[in-house]
Amino acid sequence: MKTVLITGANKGIGHEVARQLAAKGFHVFVGARDPKAGRKAAEGFANKYGKATFLEIDVADSDSVATAAREFSKIEDHLDVLVNNAGIIVDGDEAILEISDELFRNTLETNTLGPLRVTRAFAALLRESKEPRVINVSSGGGQLTGGADGWAPAYCISKTALNGVTVQLAAALPNFAVNSVCPGWVRTEMGGENATRSVEEGADTIVWLASEAPQDLTGKFLRDRKEIPW
Ligand SMILES: NC(=O)c1ccc[n+]([C@@H]2O[C@H](COP(=O)([O-])OP(=O)(O)OC[C@H]3O[C@@H](n4cnc5c(N)ncnc54)[C@H](OP(=O)(O)O)[C@@H]3O)[C@@H](O)[C@H]2O)c1
Repeated sequence: MKTVLITGANKGIGHEVARQLAAKGFHVFVGARDPKAGRKAAEGFANKYGKATFLEIDVADSDSVATAAREFSKIEDHLDVLVNNAGIIVDGDEAILEISDELFRNTLETNTLGPLRVTRAFAALLRESKEPRVINVSSGGGQLTGGADGWAPAYCISKTALNGVTVQLAAALPNFAVNSVCPGWVRTEMGGENATRSVEEGADTIVWLASEAPQDLTGKFLRDRKEIPW
């Protein structure tokens, strides 16, 4: 049975990725920092599709991430796919010359260091997989080619830097598939109700990379299953 860990899987895009991969027969680890919401989501998937396990993980907290890796290894001896989905836009992230150091640091802590930290903590478990895959949920807002328009600068820079993490990890982990994905503008708490895509559409490329994409596709930035510029 293939295993997948999705961070921030209690709602939004992460929840939908977890649902689709559970439906495909994965043992889904529902990563969430909120135990109540995470447990509820995992129970829902387990009842409907089979195997799903809640894993408490706050990606901004290294102790929580280390504990999560230990707890995971008590249940499974390998991890096939890691989806670094958890992300934030901090209130007040509005103008590059006005955001505080603290706002910037908090954003990077979750969106950039978080995925690196989780990948590092789960690298040994991923190495036990025949086809290890790491999927970093990034954003077109992080693109340096026409991406920046002044909107949410700390968030956008954190995703530019996350894309840097993706290429560095792809170089460091040659038999892994490590990629960044832009899900598009998706109707979630973060995306808002006017967003153009459903969660199903937002999850599509992530689920494809987790389950069907060729293993030698690595070190890329993708949207709609196609490579896009950094
Ligand atoms: N929606 C869009 O239009 C859009 C566009 C481009 C990229 N993205 C990216 O897609 C990903 C998912 O976004 P979404 O739209 O589904 O947002 P969302 O509905 O706000 O969900 C975000 C998820 O991340 C979790 N999270 C935040 N900080 C965390 C932490 N420190 N540790 C663990 N979990 C944490 C949240 O948990 P809580 O419930 O506990 O807060 C929640 O489960 C993000 O990386 C986002 O940047 C979204």
